[in-house]
Amino acid sequence: MADPQKHSVQRSLRDYARAEKLIPGATQLISRRPARMAYGVSPIYADHAKGSHFWDVDGNEYVDWISGILAIILGYADEVVDNAVKEQIGKGVTFSINNELELELAEELIRTIPSAEMVRYAKGGGDACTIAVRIARGATGRDKVLFCGYHGWHDWYIAANLLKDATLDEHLFPGIDPTGVPKALAGTIFPFRYGDLDMLEQRLEENKGEVACIIMEPLRSELPPEGFLEGVRQLADRYGVVLIFDEVSCGFRIALGGAQEYLGVTPDLSVFAKALSNGYSMGAVVGKRDVMEPASRMFISSTYWSDTIGIVAALTTIRELRRRGAVEHFFKAGRTIKQGLDEAIRDAGIPAHAFGLDCSPRFQFDIADPALHQKVSTLYVQEMCKRGIFSATYFTLNMAHTEEDISGTLAASKEVFGLIQNALERGHVDDLLEAELRTDTFRRMVR
Ligand SMILES: Cc1ncc(COP(=O)(O)O)c(C=O)c1O
Repeated sequence: MADPQKHSVQRSLRDYARAEKLIPGATQLISRRPARMAYGVSPIYADHAKGSHFWDVDGNEYVDWISGILAIILGYADEVVDNAVKEQIGKGVTFSINNELELELAEELIRTIPSAEMVRYAKGGGDACTIAVRIARGATGRDKVLFCGYHGWHDWYIAANLLKDATLDEHLFPGIDPTGVPKALAGTIFPFRYGDLDMLEQRLEENKGEVACIIMEPLRSELPPEGFLEGVRQLADRYGVVLIFDEVSCGFRIALGGAQEYLGVTPDLSVFAKALSNGYSMGAVVGKRDVMEPASRMFISSTYWSDTIGIVAALTTIRELRRRGAVEHFFKAGRTIKQGLDEAIRDAGIPAHAFGLDCSPRFQFDIADPALHQKVSTLYVQEMCKRGIFSATYFTLNMAHTEEDISGTLAASKEVFGLIQNALERGHVDDLLEAELRTDTFRRMVR
C-alpha cells in the first residue's frame, strides 16, 4: 500500500490550471473532471498504464477501479490486442477502399450478440446511438424517441431538456443545460422511468403513430424488475416501435452477448462501444435484418468508421474475452469484492452496504444527510487515492485485476472505513477533508 503521507499531485494540479486556460471545460469527457473524484488529492493526468495499474504525472502508482471509464476490459496495454494493432499499423490503417476486417468483425459480432444479423460501425458510444436512432427513424418513417438512460451528447438526445429542466436529471446528470441544441427539436424526445411500464405505455399512447424507437440501457448495476424488459419488448411490438438496447456501459462484462444474452430479451437494434475494443476508439450498431437493411438507403457515412485500428482491436478483444473466460472471472472477482466490502463495513461499524450484480460490485454509505454523505464519499475517494487506489464507490473490473489488487483494495477500504467511522463518531469529518467535495452533477461545468 502506498504511503498516505507522501502522496502529492502537484503536477496534475498545475496541468489542470493550464487546461482551464486552453480547453473550455478543461476535459473532453465530463467523467474525467476531477470534481467527480477528490480534487486536490486525486490524480488528474495519467502518464502511463499497464494491466490494472496506472501511474500519474507525479509518479504515483494506482490500482485502477475505473478502468478507463469502462473502456478497459482486458487491462491496459494488453499485449495481444496491442500486437494485433501494431501489426495492422504496419499494413496501413485507413485505405482508399474497404478492408476485409470489416467483414470479419461483423461475422464475429453476429456470432456473439443475439440481436445481431447486420452490423454498422462508429467510433464511440454517442456516435453509435445516433446512428441507431437515425436507422430507427428511417426504417419507421417516424420522428419521436422515447428513452431511458444516458445516450451521449448529440442533439437528438440532449433535446430532451428543451421541454423542462428536470427531464434528463434521472437519466444523465442533474443540471444539464441544452444550450446550443436547436429549440425546434423540443417535443421530439421523451423520457420514461426505468421499471415503469405504465409510464412507457402512456408515452406510447400519447404519441401513437409518431414514435420511431424506444432507446434504453437494459440495466446498469442491478437486475431489472421481474418482467420489465419483457414488457418493454411487448409494448414495442404492439405499437410497431423499434426497440434499441444501449449496451455501451453494460455490454460484455455481464455476458459476451451483452445484457440481452444474460436476460434473454432480444431488441431490434443494439449499440456497443467502450469495452468492445479495450480502449481503442470503436462503436457498433447491430440489429435484425429487417430494421438494419433500410439503412442502406439512408445517409450514414464517415471516413474513420472503418479505420482498421478500432476494428482489429474489437475483433481481438472479443476473441480474447472468450478465450480467457472473462465473464466467469468478472462474476467471481466481483463476488469477492462485494463480500470483502461487506466484511470491512461490518468490522468498521460504518453505515454502508455493498450491492450490485456480481460483475458490477459497488457500495453506498447509508447516510441520510446529503451534505454529510458528500463529505464522507469524498473522504473515501481521497483516502483511497492516498493509499494508491483509484476508485469511487463502484469497481469496474478488467481481466488484469489480480487477487493482490483485490485484497489490497479491501485492506485499504477497511482502514479507510475505520478512519471515517471514527471521524463520524467524534464529529470531525471536516478536519480530515483535504480535497474539494466531490460532485456528480454537471452544474459546476468546470472541475
Ligand atoms: C449507456 C451509454 N451510452 C452512450 C454513451 C456515450 O458513449 P461515448 O462517451 O463513447 O460517446 C455512454 C458513455 O458513458 C454510455 O454509458
